[in-house]
Amino acid sequence: MSKPKALATRPLFPAAREILERNFDVEYWPVQDKMPRADLLRRVADKDALICLLTEKIDGELLAAAPKLRIVSTVSVGYDHIDVPACTRRNVMVTNTPGVLDETTADLAWALLMAIARRVVEGDAWIRSGTWPGWELDQLLGGDVYGKTLGVIGFGRIGRAMARRALGFQMRVLYQNRTRASLEVERELRAEFADLDRLLRESDFVTLHVPLSADTRHLMSAVAFEKMKSTAYLINTARGPVVDEAALARALEDKKIAGAALDVYESEPKVHPALLSRRDVILVPHIGSASVETRTKMAVMAATNAAEFFAGRRPPNALNADAVRP
Ligand code: NAP
Ligand code: GLV
Repeated sequence: MSKPKALATRPLFPAAREILERNFDVEYWPVQDKMPRADLLRRVADKDALICLLTEKIDGELLAAAPKLRIVSTVSVGYDHIDVPACTRRNVMVTNTPGVLDETTADLAWALLMAIARRVVEGDAWIRSGTWPGWELDQLLGGDVYGKTLGVIGFGRIGRAMARRALGFQMRVLYQNRTRASLEVERELRAEFADLDRLLRESDFVTLHVPLSADTRHLMSAVAFEKMKSTAYLINTARGPVVDEAALARALEDKKIAGAALDVYESEPKVHPALLSRRDVILVPHIGSASVETRTKMAVMAATNAAEFFAGRRPPNALNADAVRP
């Protein structure tokens, strides 16, 4: 019997390829660069499964170009690039990769938090410029982390992993979430539920971990920055459009907040030009989950989701399983 046909929009990793090749007749986009949209639309036309990344928009146009498609398996936990209701209407299963990247992403968010507070990147640039004159009492003074207040917006898997890290720094943790966590979780993580207004007013660090949705787009607006302490920092490893980048640039210029450290951007790969030259901003290129171990696990998980579906089982990380017919 012939195998179902799959398109993978990157070469992926050997462990994931092995699963795909056992279960599918697979076509890979051969390079680790974004597949041009025209190629994607053409190559998906005869495919039963699509293994994609968060940079590929899965919308009505793509679904119309892929009449045989039964599953979209993204190598990411975020799925704001996928029109899930449109997939459901066309009886296309959607899967993602939750859980395996929590600690890696929280590690990066924590690294950004430490680096912006202690001006690590500025210090590195100074030394490399060859102009550092040696130790002085008032050089590169930053803010303390230990004992401060961390505000976590989005208290899911990654938000909680941040709160767990804060325990080791004796921080007070305030969190905001659509639904309140259980008392056990609050007790274990020593985290206090707070409304957004209070969290913004009281936190020394505000870290974002909500998915991008109509409700969270521009959650961090001029109004929000106005409420933050002038000594506070913003960390964003969630999605770029959760922050109004123009408002952030203005808030930094007007000294409404002390700094920002960003992994994600409103219009990736573009970054608001006003942020590029600022010393009170750290910018990294969407590397939250970028460890060898975690990216491999994500690719394996995406391949497994697709393979399980064609083996007649419910994929472990299905987002619309109940609405999709076998
Ligand atoms: P998760 O476990 O689903 O957590 C998200 C949390 O946000 C949930 O607790 C959810 O509340 C809450 N939430 C949703 N909408 C909200 C709203 N309008 N107001 C307040 N809280 C809201 O997701 P996760 O695995 O932690 O990932 C979070 C996001 O991080 C992903 O969606 C992705 O965009 C981003 N991410 C980025 C990277 C990176 O490389 N930078 C890596 C991984 C993930 P409920 O409990 O009520 O559902
Ligand atoms: C990364 O941004 C992800 O959503 O996995």
